[in-house]
Amino acid sequence: MNVAIDGPAGAGKSTIARLAAKKLGFLYVDTGAMYRAIALYLLWDDTDIENEESLKKALDRININIVYEKGVQHVFLNFQDVSAEIRSEKVSIMASKTSALQPVRDKLLDLQKSIAASNDVIMDGRDIGTNILPNAEVKIYLDASTDVRAKRRYDEMKAKGESPDMESIKKNIILRDEQDMNRKIAPLRKAEDAVLIDSSDMSIDQVVDRIVALVNKAGEKA
Ligand code: DC
Repeated sequence: MNVAIDGPAGAGKSTIARLAAKKLGFLYVDTGAMYRAIALYLLWDDTDIENEESLKKALDRININIVYEKGVQHVFLNFQDVSAEIRSEKVSIMASKTSALQPVRDKLLDLQKSIAASNDVIMDGRDIGTNILPNAEVKIYLDASTDVRAKRRYDEMKAKGESPDMESIKKNIILRDEQDMNRKIAPLRKAEDAVLIDSSDMSIDQVVDRIVALVNKAGEKA
């Protein structure tokens, strides 16, 4: 079975998808991490992303691998585990920018489709229900207000011992929404047949339970 979860930055997709996948015994696939790994390489390499030829050459040098250790997804960029490095704000902003480019999306399309074809997955991202898995049995569009999303990101960074600035977090969230929703290729939008869940006033458990119930219901029908 394929479950697609899309939504804007900070809506809680990865936390919720991870927990729901654990409850259901499904594989959790975080596609944002793949875009982040590419963005990290392009930053390291200082690629001129406006130049299609240099971008394509750089992409040819990139090998992305997804490895699961005890059910946790690790992303390898050219055989180096970059799962921690890809979480910085710098990489978030770069990933939002570079994921709008067709060659970058082309690079990840087959990898994402093939993981979903051979596993029961919960896959989260921006274009999973609309583009990657249009036939997913369950589609969710997970949203939350900008303030709630900014607060969640703030708390997450604080918990990591960082000194976040609320205003810049909010600004980055708005910028990423704007880029992810308004790009020409595979923009973030709710698939027509996706269930909208606004998690602003819901606990993590409530959202997870709602998704697990939707998946179980779809499983009964199948
Ligand atoms: O979910 P995330 O914040 O880790 O994703 C990082 C960026 O990658 C996000 O700003 C947009 C892009 N992305 C995408 O374009 N398509 C996806 N399926 C997943 C992420």
